[in-house]
Parts: sequence; structure tokens; C-alpha cells
Amino acid sequence: MDSGLRPAAGPGMTTLGNMPRNDTTKLTVENLSEKQAKAEHARLAGEIAEHDRRYYQDDAPSVSDAEYDRLRQRYGAIEARFPQLRTAESLTRHVGAAPAARFAKVRHALPMLSLDNAFAEDDVRDFVGRIRRFLRLPDDEEIVFSAEPKIDGLSMSLRYEAGALVTGATRGDGSVGEDVTANVKTLEDIPKRLKGRTVPAVCEVRGEVYMTKQAFLALNKRQAESGGQVFANPRNSAAGSLRQKDPSITASRPLGFFAYAWGEMSALPADTQSGMIEWFASCGFKTNPLTKICRSVEALLEFHHEIELQRGSLDYDIDGVVYKVDRLDWQERLGFVSRSPRWAIAHKFPAEKATTLVKDIEIQVGRTGALTPVAKLEPVTVGGVVVQNATLHNPDEIARLDVRVGDTVSIQRAGDVIPQVLGVVLEKRPRGAKPYVFPKKCPCSLHTDVMREQTAAGEEGAVARCSGEFACPYYVVEHLKHFVSRRAFDIDGLGEKQIEFFHEKGWLQEPADIFTLEKKHRDDLLVEEGYGETSVRNLFNAIEARRQIPLERFIYALGIRHVGETTAVALARGYGSWQSFHDACGKLADGDDETRQEMDALDQIGGTVIDSLRDYFAEAHNRRRIERLAAQVRILDAEKPRADSAIAGKTVVFTGTLDKMTRDEAKASAERLGAKVAGSVSRKTDYVVAGPGAGSKLGKAKEFGVKILSEDEWLKLAR
Ligand code: IVH
Repeated sequence: MDSGLRPAAGPGMTTLGNMPRNDTTKLTVENLSEKQAKAEHARLAGEIAEHDRRYYQDDAPSVSDAEYDRLRQRYGAIEARFPQLRTAESLTRHVGAAPAARFAKVRHALPMLSLDNAFAEDDVRDFVGRIRRFLRLPDDEEIVFSAEPKIDGLSMSLRYEAGALVTGATRGDGSVGEDVTANVKTLEDIPKRLKGRTVPAVCEVRGEVYMTKQAFLALNKRQAESGGQVFANPRNSAAGSLRQKDPSITASRPLGFFAYAWGEMSALPADTQSGMIEWFASCGFKTNPLTKICRSVEALLEFHHEIELQRGSLDYDIDGVVYKVDRLDWQERLGFVSRSPRWAIAHKFPAEKATTLVKDIEIQVGRTGALTPVAKLEPVTVGGVVVQNATLHNPDEIARLDVRVGDTVSIQRAGDVIPQVLGVVLEKRPRGAKPYVFPKKCPCSLHTDVMREQTAAGEEGAVARCSGEFACPYYVVEHLKHFVSRRAFDIDGLGEKQIEFFHEKGWLQEPADIFTLEKKHRDDLLVEEGYGETSVRNLFNAIEARRQIPLERFIYALGIRHVGETTAVALARGYGSWQSFHDACGKLADGDDETRQEMDALDQIGGTVIDSLRDYFAEAHNRRRIERLAAQVRILDAEKPRADSAIAGKTVVFTGTLDKMTRDEAKASAERLGAKVAGSVSRKTDYVVAGPGAGSKLGKAKEFGVKILSEDEWLKLAR
């Protein structure tokens, strides 16, 4: 990347050239070209997956919920406009992140899904309108909803067999979660046995594990005193407390549970949502006392308002309310659209706000060398949670807000860790407060120049970076931390602390050093405090165990900009082996246009990723570093995607009237099983499902020799 250094564009700043950012984020989705949409869709996928990982696996999200929702919305909007981007890999078909490695995995009998969000009142009206249309209900038919608070905790599925609790599992990626049975058994709110004489043979009760605000504050105080992990909010502390290897730690943490949903049930004890909630209560569960029946949109909005007023005084965090169609037969008919049910929606609350003082502005250096300014705040309670830091993102953001040390700022927290600074309360600015001057030198020991990268349009980009790259110790350490992180090489016993320590000792400069550590520094390590024979042996065994690594993990671990997990998987699937991926990147760096086009044709890969790979592989020192690493490990070829159902990957066209389902239901169920539903018949169509009254499409199907199915035949196939 250093080949692109250019003279300063702004005072004291150097511009990093040769790195077009193809920034389309400011365009509305309607104005994106297909190519731009593809690139941004892929970039968003990577970004969202990374946020999911931090949220679900590390219990340490790095963006606000509002920002996350915004990314998700844009991602969904791009897919709505360009449905071809909605592949089986799409995040709109997946929830959360895959489970972390240390717990056994549990496949949910029925997937654990997510909820669609409503923000404005009109979103709620649209939601009700959609239901009415889908069910073809007349305007005067009442739709009854069960409305309840949306708890900001973590969802849990509890499986009871013959009345006894057999498994407790986290949501994970929606299909496979983590087995935390031993831990959930320590929760008072979770019955080990269901009360009542006749309970169905199999009951999967689902709900939310949460920590009260009070318990959270007390826990953090204890943790801080004992040097333990301090959590950012009650949700993270609930998640962290539940995902403990030692159940006695979970037992020592005050966790609550509200039951609000279910998975597999061998029999349904009620025919309404509210009836099910009552049944849960009769079995011994806590259910939310604020749950209420609402019979109109107005009643729903009123409920939203009422609960929002109570929000601050509740002892648990909520981030909105949930509306659910009460009749279960209607829920059944409405079904799901990718990751969320059509019969429910989360109506979110706006973020909670407060004002406080900026004591200082600190610079943190991240894995890609990006310098992030952070406002150190006078601690303030927002929505029951103490906040002391707020990110200021980048130099432009500080300049836009004109935040100065000594300023009073308004901040907002949307159930998240790092709150946003909304603006400065100018009346409170102390006299003599000076505009913040972004450092021209990296705070690292090299004090190298800070550079601004350049956008495709040749303008100065938002991100400031240390120009030292692998010479900057912050950069090296962050890079190595990423390399060993759970989703990358995942080396047990080699965490952030060890990386910092080994780097300080001068033993680790680059990933390849990890694999020669034993040979070169075993004896050095043994004399260090806290490193006995056993722990040293365990560490080296863990390193040895990772000498074999799947291609997608390897690519992700390299930490190339814009190559997140989803992108790494797409590249691994596209190229199959390290050799062919490596060759392609080499050609790309040499400016080979054919290779570029070939890469562009891959699902999920667009211009930003390709440019980033090109720049990375254009650097001889990057290539050498990779070669040294590749010589130490065996990179396993990628697995080919597996088709689960008979119709996965097939293209289907529906025509004529369907008896057993509406067209929307048919389409949704086909898509759920991985098929693509098209509007017109072509030679590429695999099936035409024809009901009575089918017209020209049936004719076309015959002409092209496409297989024609009746509705019943289709239903048999689409299971
Ligand atoms: S119903 C099929 N009800 O919100 C959907 N979810 O954003 C089942 N949540 O994954 C979920 N309070 O973890 C439901 N009263 C509530 C909830 C609730 C919190 C969580 C749950 C879900 C997430 C979706």
C-alpha cells in the first residue's frame, strides 16, 4: 500500500492514493447501478457479519443498535431492488452469528428467528395492512394482537421432554446454537420441570434471559474491583454470564427469564398467542406482566406510547415493543419471510439521551491502522447504564460536530455499548475551549505521519490511518489479534493479552512467527511468570492444532481490508484452493483484466473487495509475509455448497390459481427451501407450478420442455 503515498492533501496529512473507495453509501438505493449495488451489498454483508460476530460471540458490539439497524435496512433495500443478490448466503436468510467454538452445538428443532423492525407509526400501519392483504381479510374484520415489551437480553430455547428440562440453547445463527443447559439450570426463573399434570411430550419454550439494571451495575462494580471483565450494558452482561464454562459463575449472577414464544411442541395447549403465554405461566414460567391485548392499530400505538413512558422506571432494559397476531391459525398461515415472521413486528423506541462533559479526546489505533478518536466522558447514566466513552469516528466527524475538550455534549445510547455524540451544547462551552486538532502523527512509538485515504472521486476519504503499517506497533498487534481471533485461526490460549506480551518481548512480528514460536522461544517462555510446563505445552498444542486451516478462515485471518468473513467464504468457494486464489490475486495485482472480471462474476464480490485485494497483493512485503505463513500451515480446500432440499437452487414459476395457499405463501415457502421464484418462464426455469386458469406461461413451459407440476405435486416436492 505504501506505493500510493502522495503529498499532503490537507495540512500535515498525507493522502493514501491508489485506494479508490467506491463510496456509494451516500446514494439512495434507487440511484445505485447494479454493479454498485452488488459491491455495496457485499461490503455490507461483511460489515454486518462482523458486527454480528462481535455482538453474538464476543458479547462486545462496536456499533449502536440504531447504526446496525440502518445497515440491515440498507442491505435489505438493496436486495429488494436487486433480487438477484438475494442468494442462499444472503444475511436476510440468516440470523446472528454462528455459535462460538467452546460450547457444544445444538441444532434447533425449529429455527429461532428474528423480528422485523418498525420505527415509524406508518411502519406499523403497513404491517397490519400487509397481514390483512395476505390473509385476504375484509376491512371490517378485527385483527387481535398480543402486545408486549421487547426485552433487550438474549434469546433462549428450552427443550422439555416428558416435562423435564433437557436442553437450553442460545440462538446462535438461528439454526444452530450453543448448548448452555448446565448454565440455564441455575436460573431461578427457569423451571427444571414443567408444572401441571398433562404437559405435551415435547415442549420447546423460548424467551429472553436478561439481567436487571441494578444487578448489572452491582456486578460491574464487583468486576471492576476484582479486575474482571466489565460489561457495557445489561444485555452483554447477561450474555457473558450465561456463556460461562463454569455454571457456578452463572449461578452467582442474577439472571431473569421471560417466556414469550415456543419452538417444537408435540401438542399446542392453546390456540392463541395470549393463551400460550397464560399456559407458560401455569407451567411455572415468568411472563411479562405488561403484555396486553390490542384490537386496532390505534391500540397498538397507544401501547407503544404507554410502555415508552414506563421504560426508564422498569428494572430491565427494553428497546421497543412487539406486536404478535393473537390467532395461531393466522400465524401459521402468515408464516415467515426469510428471517422474520409475517405475524409479528418489533416497534422500536428511539434511543435514550443524556448530556455530559468531554474530559478528553483519545486516539485509538485499530487493526487496519485507522485512528479512531474517542471522547472520554464524565460518567453519566443513560437509561440506567453508566456511559464513559463515546466514539467520534474520524477526523471529519469531530470537525462536523466541532467537539472540544471541556464541551458539554448530548449523547444517545440505543441499548448499545458505545454511544454516539449527537452534538455540542454550545451555551455551555467554556471560554477558551480550543478546536480539536487531529494529530498529524500516530501515537505509536514511530510517530509516523497520519494519512487520509482517497476516495474514487479523488477526494479525501474519512478515515485517517497510520502510515507506518507493519512498522507501527499498534497496527502489528491489532493485526495479530485479528489473526488469532475466534473466527480466524482461533488459537486457544493465544488471546489479546498474550499477543501483546509476546510482541513486546519481540517474539511475534507477523503471523508466521506464531508457528515458529515453539522452536525459537520455548525456553524463553518457560522462565516467564505464569508459564509452567503444562500451560506452555497446552499453548503449543493449540498452535499445532491450527496448522491445518480451512481456506475461508485463512483468507479471513489475513485481515485484508473489506475482506470480512462472508467475503472470505465467497472467495474460498469461488476459487476452491489456496493455490488458485493466490494465483488469481497475483494476476489481479499485475493488472490482469480477465482475472478481475472473473472475480467480479463471483457471488458477493464487488469492486471494493477486488481493489482491496489488488492493492494488498501489489505489495511485495505483503506477499512475502503471506508466503512465509503459507509455508507453515496446510490450507484445506473449500467445501462445495450443499443443497438441502429437492428444490434448493431451482427456479420456479407459479401460474394459475392455487387452492391450498395464496401466491405469496407459495412463493415464501419455495424461497424458504432455497428455490428462486421467477415471474416468467424461460429455458432456465426448472418447474412451472400450474393451477386452474394457467395461460401463456403454461404454453411457454410446454414449448421449452420445462417440467410442469400440479399444486399437489409441488407440495410433495417442496418439503
Ligand atoms: S418474539 C419468531 N417477543 O428480539 C420471533 N422476541 O429482534 C420470536 N425479543 O430474537 C421472537 N423480547 O431475542 C419476541 N417479547 C418478545 C421479545 C423478543 C425480546 C428478542 C428475541 C428476538 C429478537 C428479535
